[in-house]
Formats: sequence, structure tokens, C-alpha cells
Amino acid sequence: MTTTAQRHLLLNMTANGSLGSEGEELLVIRRGEGPYVDDTDGRRYIDGMSGLYCCQLGYSYGPEFAEVADRQLRELCYSPLWSGSAHPTAIELAERLSRIAPVDIEHTFFSGGGAEAVETAWKIARRYHALRGEPGRVKTIARRGAYHGLTVGALSFTDDPGLTEPYGPSAIETRFVSNTNRLGLAPEFADDEVYTAWLLAELEVAILTEGPQTVAMLIAEPVQNRGGCITPPHGYWQGLRALADRYGFLLVADEVITAFGRLGEWFGGDLYGARPDLVTVAKGITAGYAPMGATLVTDHVAEVINRPGQVLNHGFTFSGHPLSAAIALRSLDIMERDRILDHVRGLQDDFARRMSALRDLPIVGDVRGAGFFYSCELVGDLEGGRFSDTARTALVADLIPRRLREAGLLARVYNRSAPLVQVAPPLISDRAVLDRIAAIVSDTLTEASARI
Ligand SMILES: Cc1ncc(COP(=O)(O)O)c(C=O)c1O
Repeated sequence: MTTTAQRHLLLNMTANGSLGSEGEELLVIRRGEGPYVDDTDGRRYIDGMSGLYCCQLGYSYGPEFAEVADRQLRELCYSPLWSGSAHPTAIELAERLSRIAPVDIEHTFFSGGGAEAVETAWKIARRYHALRGEPGRVKTIARRGAYHGLTVGALSFTDDPGLTEPYGPSAIETRFVSNTNRLGLAPEFADDEVYTAWLLAELEVAILTEGPQTVAMLIAEPVQNRGGCITPPHGYWQGLRALADRYGFLLVADEVITAFGRLGEWFGGDLYGARPDLVTVAKGITAGYAPMGATLVTDHVAEVINRPGQVLNHGFTFSGHPLSAAIALRSLDIMERDRILDHVRGLQDDFARRMSALRDLPIVGDVRGAGFFYSCELVGDLEGGRFSDTARTALVADLIPRRLREAGLLARVYNRSAPLVQVAPPLISDRAVLDRIAAIVSDTLTEASARI
């Protein structure tokens, strides 16, 4: 199977040429059950990453989704949401999303995934400002180390040169400001009030330097995934709202990972009092049973872009595909019926305690996260020193992922903006599975600690 893959399949974010018997191992997952997946050699793993942050319900709801898919495909396999045409399943889903979304969010533009949802947000922001007589608002403010997708527009909101430089100058003018990772900062930033004030002051300077009349939007995740589950300090989202109101830009919450229960709420922003103008979602909206993305829009923005006669010149053939829409609706039904948010809320404190205990390991500089979404940021020593390149390569590229996998856990180990071990297990995981995840991460990082 590896040979066929090598010959015919180009994997995402992979050194495809290095795969194979002599090089990197290819993990081929054949089936899933509950929070577990099995590879083609019959090895079973806890899927500590919910696939790629999307399988909120794990892998055992196939028959229920198959029944919904069967019904939808027999009735209507496809119909566009284009040029004044729609279909009932997308209409029902848009209405359903408005019921669980933050206050004022009443409208949905569907897309195929997260990056499309993010670019849609930018286009809507541009249209909004242009129609209000401010066509010069073209810039975006994004946060350092963040990731919002890899299409050319969404890529503009990422400052990782490894991702951007191969493709030349960014399509959308973007200014980067600090994210909310305080590891390694001066001790006074341990105080939320001080830290929030500093972050907002930095942001305000960026807005004023760029010229407020040039800023279209600010995009931020409630908990920033890249850089390791970076949670906001108290008052941060309220401060973003106040600056958006003062300077007239739109506030976009990128909830591609944090929505649909990942943090124990329908939307992660609910946890932090966020009041965004636009929300981008994808991944968990269908629990991974079909592809879908969406940009959710507040009434006051929709009122402007929906002015009589104004055409929303933007779209995707598979926007709101009936199959994906039917699956998203059923996924929301299941999440309500099986009380998935309550399940996460019931276990999250315990999981937080288990994960936070990893801070005691010498290699762990910080443990951050919320709900079922945690990262350990690794450091070289107890003073928060950074790894040397050689130590980093040996541990993060080899020992840690190898040991986690040998112990039967698929977790994310990466080293892009910081060396990290991250977990985002399916939301149906029970206490025993969460305990096992924490124990495997602990054993692995204990061994890695012994090597530094
Ligand atoms: C926060 C965030 N936004 C956007 C995206 C892009 O989503 P997609 O891969 O569906 O285009 C991702 C993907 O991981 C993400 O984490």
C-alpha cells in the first residue's frame, strides 16, 4: 500500500519524496470505532486528534449518518446555492446554525472547508466597507504564529515563512500582532489585567500605524491552535470588540477548530465573551462525516451586503452541498440528543488537571488549553530555555512521536512556531480514554525529559 501511495498520492504537508521503506513511515488508517482508529497492520490507536480536529463524535455513528445520506441522496443529490436558487436542507441548516450561534448571528454562507470560510469572511468584510463608502479598508490584522488555511487568500493571514515564501508576496495586505502566549514573557504579564492591557495597546498602535481607515478586519481564534492551544487572558475579547467598534473594522472569530463542542460550548468564543461580527467554521460542523465550511454573519453586516440590488459576487459550486448539509444537521441532532456538550463539561476539569500536572516535567514549559483541546509547549530547561536545533530534531521529530505511537496514541507533535505535543480527542471520549491519553503523554515526556 505504501508503494502505491508513493506512486500515486500526494499527501498534504508531507515530504512525499521521503516516504517509503527506507524513509518515513506512512500511517494508513483503515477503520475507526468510538475514539479509536485501526491501521492496515491491525494496530489500534486512540485518535487523540479527532482526525484533524474534526471527528467530534468519533467513528461509530456511521450507520446513523449513512441512513441520512441515503435519504438525502435519493431525494436530491445536488442543487446549487447560486443565482437565486437553494434547497431545503441548506435552508434548514442555516436556520439551525443561527439558533446556536452567538447573539446577532443570523446568516450563513456555506463553503467547502475552513480556508474558503476564511476567505469568504474577508470578501464579506471588503464588500461591507465598500458599500458603506470605505473602499480603502483592505487590510487584515492577524496574530503571529496563527494558521487560517492554505489557499492563497487565507495564507496571507499566516506569518510562517515556511508556508508563505514559496508562493511569493501575500495576496492580502496583513499586519501581524502578538498572539496571547505569555510563556517566556516578563513576570508582570502573569497578571491578566496587565497582559490584556499590553496586548490591546500593541494592537491599537498597529491600527493607528496602518491607518484605521485602511483596516477591514481582525481575525483571531478564541484559542489559537498554532503555537499550542493559546488561550486568551481575561478581558481580551472584550477589548478586541471595543477596538473594532472604535476603529470601525470587523472582528472575525476563526472557530474552525474551536466550534461545535471542542471547548465545551457550541462556539469557543462563548467561553470568553467574544462578540464577533463574523465567525468561520468547518471541521466539526459535520463531525468529519462530510466536508463543509461556513461563514456566519451578524445581522448588522448582512443588512449592508444585502442592500437591495447588491449582488454577492462570490461562491462555490459545492456551497451547502445537500449531502454535507444533511450530515451537519444530523450531527447537531446527535450532539443535542447525546448531550455531547454536557459530556465535555463534565470531564473537562478532570482532563485539565491531568494535563496541567505535566507542567512538573522538566521538558514541559507550559500546558495550555480548554475543553478537550490541550498542548504542552516543550522547553530545553526549567528556566524556559529553548531547545538547540539538534535536541529539537531528535526529540520532536523522532523520539516523542515514535513513543506516543508505540503506546497507541495519535497526538500531534510539531515544531513550527514552538515545539509542542497536542491533543484534541473526540468529544465522546470517556474518562478512561482521557486518562489514558494523559498517561501516555506523561510517560513519553518523562522519557524525553531524561534526554535533556
Ligand atoms: C483555525 C483554522 N482556520 C482555518 C483552517 C483551514 O481549514 P481547511 O483545512 O478546512 O481549509 C484551519 C485548518 O486547520 C484552522 O485550524
